[in-house]
Amino acid sequence: MNLAPPRYRLCAGSALAEGCHLKFSIRFEGRDEECLLIRFGGKAYAYVNRCVHMPRPLDCEQDLVFDPSGRYLRCSMHGIVYAPETGTSISTMCEGQRLRAVAVYEEGGDVGIADFRVSALRLPPG
Ligand code: FES
Repeated sequence: MNLAPPRYRLCAGSALAEGCHLKFSIRFEGRDEECLLIRFGGKAYAYVNRCVHMPRPLDCEQDLVFDPSGRYLRCSMHGIVYAPETGTSISTMCEGQRLRAVAVYEEGGDVGIADFRVSALRLPPG
């Protein structure tokens, strides 16, 4: 019996630079969701792209998901900031609430998602 989650390759690890992100769509817990893959502190993380405050993508107003310092994720709607390592809001607004994390793997030069809750992947064109 195979207990490993299905793996969906997203890109070469070298293509995901520090402080950058990639967007893709997944089937997550039976729903289509947009997802963010980020690199922070050398490590890759993935989150469903939906703010804890309102159901808006973090980049709904600006094409950015990191704040200007590069230290935090930031929702461009009302400015909630999140710790990139955990997806936890460290703003007064929605303090302690978390973005939904999606499990990531990085191995053999590839980075992708490996999460039992994901049943399909759609990469952006190009
Ligand atoms: S919708 Fe994200 S901070 Fe309000």
